[in-house]
Amino acid sequence: MPVSRSKNSRVPIYLPATTATTIDSLTPRQIVAELDRYVIGQAQAKRAVAIALRNRVRRQKLPPELAEEVAPKNILMIGPTGVGKTEIARRLARLAQSPFIKVEASKFTEVGYVGRDVESMVRDLVQLAVDMVREERRVEVREKAAANAEERLLDLLLPPPPPAVRSGAAPDPEAARGAREAAARTRERFREQLRSGALDGRVVEVAVREKSMPSFEIIAGSSMDEIDINMKDMLPGLFQGRSRKRRMKVPDAAEYLAQEEEQKLVDMESVSRAAVERVQQAGIIFFDEIDKIAGREGGHGPDVSREGVQRDILPIVEGTTVNTKHGMVRTDHILFVAAGAFHLAKPSDLIPELQGRFPIRVELEPLETADFVRILTEPRGALVTQYTALLATEGLDLHLTDDAVHRIAEFASTVNERSENIGARRLHTVLERLLDEVSFEAPDMLDKRVVIDAAYVDRMLADIVRNEDLSRYVL
Ligand SMILES: Nc1ncnc2c1ncn2[C@@H]1O[C@H](COP(=O)(O)OP(=O)(O)OP(=O)(O)O)[C@@H](O)[C@H]1O
Ligand SMILES: [Mg+2]
Repeated sequence: MPVSRSKNSRVPIYLPATTATTIDSLTPRQIVAELDRYVIGQAQAKRAVAIALRNRVRRQKLPPELAEEVAPKNILMIGPTGVGKTEIARRLARLAQSPFIKVEASKFTEVGYVGRDVESMVRDLVQLAVDMVREERRVEVREKAAANAEERLLDLLLPPPPPAVRSGAAPDPEAARGAREAAARTRERFREQLRSGALDGRVVEVAVREKSMPSFEIIAGSSMDEIDINMKDMLPGLFQGRSRKRRMKVPDAAEYLAQEEEQKLVDMESVSRAAVERVQQAGIIFFDEIDKIAGREGGHGPDVSREGVQRDILPIVEGTTVNTKHGMVRTDHILFVAAGAFHLAKPSDLIPELQGRFPIRVELEPLETADFVRILTEPRGALVTQYTALLATEGLDLHLTDDAVHRIAEFASTVNERSENIGARRLHTVLERLLDEVSFEAPDMLDKRVVIDAAYVDRMLADIVRNEDLSRYVL
């Protein structure tokens, strides 16, 4: 006999602390292979990040006392602009299920730098980990949440049972039981209809929680993050919001209720704990443009602040404890990957203590014509693929011949040599110029097949490339 569940019979469910991440199962070779799908060349850098990632997995398998001793081998990636430093980091981020953030060192040297203290990167990382863990937990409770949501939706859809059934104090127990059974049968009928979509057109009234934000603003000050913490501690009620009735269609209500149930089923405290743990054990901070803070004292103005930033970063890289709203976080085992072009400054211009904290140095190679050919066509979502797909939305069938791709790569190299070497970014400017006409005319073209061959590339670009002054501006 189908028994209608009461609204409050929510079973607390046990949530295992998930620490499993897919990157853990990847060998260095597999990590490199994975990166190869997006980044051309730069084998040395890929190797280094792969080893560093694997090493932390190895570390986690050690007995705790020994694991404690193993410091992460932070990496310094050195290479000219536009050769894939940030790209490697970005791809790594998606690949590594580890909490990962990318911060620009120069952010901390900007005017009013003290406003954004360097510890904020750890806080951001924790926040990210919290979102990550919460999302995982939500997936785990999804089914349960959907079931709860269905019950709540049925409560909303069904006519309220007769009073006798509700109070359970009917004079005739026989009749009362009959009524209860009838109600249960109705409920099951509704459930079937609900699942089949037969009720999708119906409108129900749902109590939604408003997310009210406090109506005052805080001016960004020296301890913005701390203010943030305190506010939420002090004024919890402020962020909870009141509930309000809203009418919505059944499918929308189902989605809303399922989300609300998911939120209820996920224990945020345990999420916070797991997130902090994950950051401590597996967090990665990608510190971009580190050369922008290189340079020691002796200079005036900005140099002083640059060195100041280095000094501020030092303890975090060394290992310190940062207070976040999700708890204290130790940074000892966070992996730092720093990157910089080091055109003007050299790694030796960093303060010695910081240099010593980045024991692994990898240099990225400048890119050449052959690399450009591959970058244009090989990676997933390569530039040529992108443009072809974009124009396909206009019904245009764009085809670049191999010759054409080769010519584009050559032109990009030439311009890089003659003016400034901006690496693969040059491909963007060159392609944009090359496809300028097609991009503009696409919607009006009658002939929907466009073949771009070497001759077309020459016609569109040769003059500009030959004219140095001109290419400086347009390419
Ligand atoms: N080796 C490569 N393989 C594939 N694409 C690349 C490669 N190098 C650069 N690119 C492309 O060029 C663009 C710029 O690369 P990226 O952002 O990695 O430069 P960077 O090395 O970080 O330079 P910067 O020092 O200026 O920050 C990206 O769009 C990326 O897709
Ligand atoms: Mg970069």
